Amino acid sequence: MKKFFVTTPIYYMNGEPHLGHYYSTTLADVFARYYSKTENGSFFLTGTDEHGQKVADKAQSLGKSPQIFVDELALSWQNLWDKLGLKYDFFIRTSNTKHKLFAQYILQKLKENYAIYEKKYDALYCVGAESFVTKSELREGGLCPDHDEEPQIISETNWFFKLSEYKLKVKELIEKDIIKIQPKSRKNETLELLMNDDLGDFSVTRQNVEWGILVPFAPDQTIYVWIDALFNYMSAVVISKNIDFEKLSIQELIQEISDIWTPDLHIIGKDILKFHAIYWPAFLLALGLDENQLPKKILVTGMFVSEGRKMSKSLGNTIFPQDVITEFESLVGFERANEVLRFFVISEMKIGNDGDITLERVKEIYEKELANKVGNTFSRVVGMAKKYDMLGERLNQENYHKFEIEISQIIDNYFEQSDIYSVSKFLLEKLAEIAREIEEIKPWELYKENKLEELEKYLSKWLSLLEIYTEKFEIIMPNTAESMKKLIKAKEEGLSIFPKNI
Ligand code: MSP
Repeated sequence: MKKFFVTTPIYYMNGEPHLGHYYSTTLADVFARYYSKTENGSFFLTGTDEHGQKVADKAQSLGKSPQIFVDELALSWQNLWDKLGLKYDFFIRTSNTKHKLFAQYILQKLKENYAIYEKKYDALYCVGAESFVTKSELREGGLCPDHDEEPQIISETNWFFKLSEYKLKVKELIEKDIIKIQPKSRKNETLELLMNDDLGDFSVTRQNVEWGILVPFAPDQTIYVWIDALFNYMSAVVISKNIDFEKLSIQELIQEISDIWTPDLHIIGKDILKFHAIYWPAFLLALGLDENQLPKKILVTGMFVSEGRKMSKSLGNTIFPQDVITEFESLVGFERANEVLRFFVISEMKIGNDGDITLERVKEIYEKELANKVGNTFSRVVGMAKKYDMLGERLNQENYHKFEIEISQIIDNYFEQSDIYSVSKFLLEKLAEIAREIEEIKPWELYKENKLEELEKYLSKWLSLLEIYTEKFEIIMPNTAESMKKLIKAKEEGLSIFPKNI
C-alpha cells in the first residue's frame, strides 16, 4: 500500500509567497485531496529552501543572521499556507538539523559510490539562479539569461558529480517515460539538453558559501544548495517517519520509507526543469536506486505573468494571494474568497502554459463562471425545487449510481493525466448543460400545466446531479462545496453561493 506522494518545489526564503508560489502549492493540494480519497491515500510535501548565497545575501541586507531570518520567514510562509487551507502532510525546512545530517549522509554515500571526485576549476556562477552558467548561455552584455545578473567568476577546488556517467541512462528513462515529463514539450526540451555537450560534470560543493551544510569530508566547504534542496524530497519522508538513517544502507533506507517513496508527482516550474529532470534522477541512480525507485512524473508548470510581463519586484507588478482574496472577502468570506483565486489559477490555463493575472481578469472569471454558471444553476434548481415543494425527492438509487460512475470515470481519467484544468472545465460544462436543459424544458410551464410527475422527474435528476458535482467540486473548492451542500439541503429560495454584486 503505497501512498500517492506529491511534492511542490521548496521555496527560497528570500521574500513573501507570491502568486507563482501559491500556484504550485495549490495544484499540489488539489492532487493530494483527490488521491487522499483513493484507497492508498496521499502524502503531500512542501517546505522551504533555506541555504545558499541568495538567502544569505537577503538576510545580510536586512542586518539579520541567516538563521533568524529564515526562522521568521519560514514561519510566515507556513502560517499563510495553513490559513489558505493547504493541507500538506509535512513541511520540510532545509535548516532543520535532521535534514542537514541527512544531506551529509547522502554526500558520503555518493563519495563511497565514487560518484563524486575532487577537481580545481574556473567557472561562472549566477547567484539569482544558484547555478553555474556557461559562456554560451549568457545574454548580450554577459548577463544570465533568466536573472539579468552578471555571473560571478569562481575559481575553486571542489567536489564534482560525474553527471557524464549517468546522462545516457537518464535519457533512456525519460524517452521510455519511466520518468514521465509533462507536458511533452518539456520532455523534448530535457532530451535536447541531455544531448548538449555543455552539460557535463558539475560541482556539488562550494568553498566560499558559508550559509550551507558542511561537507562531512571537506569541512572547508559547504554542500551546493541544489543538492541540499533536491534531497528534501527524501529527507522529509525520513524525518516524518522518524527513521534513524545513519547506519542504514541506501537500499535499507528505501525499504523503510517504501509506504511513501517514490515520488509520484513532482510539481515544478519550467525554470527548474534541468535540476529535477536531469540532476535529480542522476543522483538517485548514483546512489544505486533502480528504475522502480525513481520519481514517476514531473509536471512542469508555466509562469504567471502580470499584464504581460514577468512578475518582479523591480517592475512592482508582483501579485500576492492576499491582494486578490481581499477583493472578494466581503462578498463570500476569507476561506471562500481564497477559493475564488484557487478556482482561477486552476481554470485559467492548462498546466504548462503561461497565464496572465490581473484583478480585472479574476473579477471577469468570477462573474462569468462562478456567479453565472455555478451559482446561478445551483440557485435556480434549488429555488424551483423549493417553490414546487419537491426538495425531498431524489433519483432512485440505481440511476444515481449510474450517473455517479460515469462522472467519476471521466474525472479519474483526467487525474490520471494530471489534467485538473479539464476537471474544472468539465464540471462547468456539466452545470451549463443543466442550465440549457432548464431553458428547454421550461419547468414553470410544466407546473402551470399541472404535469407534476414530469416536473418532479427533471428536478430530481438535476438535484442528484448537483449533489454529484458538489462531491467533485470539493477537491477544487472545499469550503464552497460545503456551501453547495447546505444550499441543496436548505429549504429556502433566493440563496446564492456566488453573489453577483462585485
Ligand atoms: N528553491 C528552488 C526550488 C528547489 S526544489 C528542490 C526555487 N525556489 S523559488 O522560490 O525560486 O521557486 C519555486 C517555484 O515557484 C518554482 O517552481 C518556480 O517556477 C515557481 N514560480 C516562481 N515564480 C513564478 C511565477 N511567476 N509563476 C509561476 N510559478 C513561479 O526555485
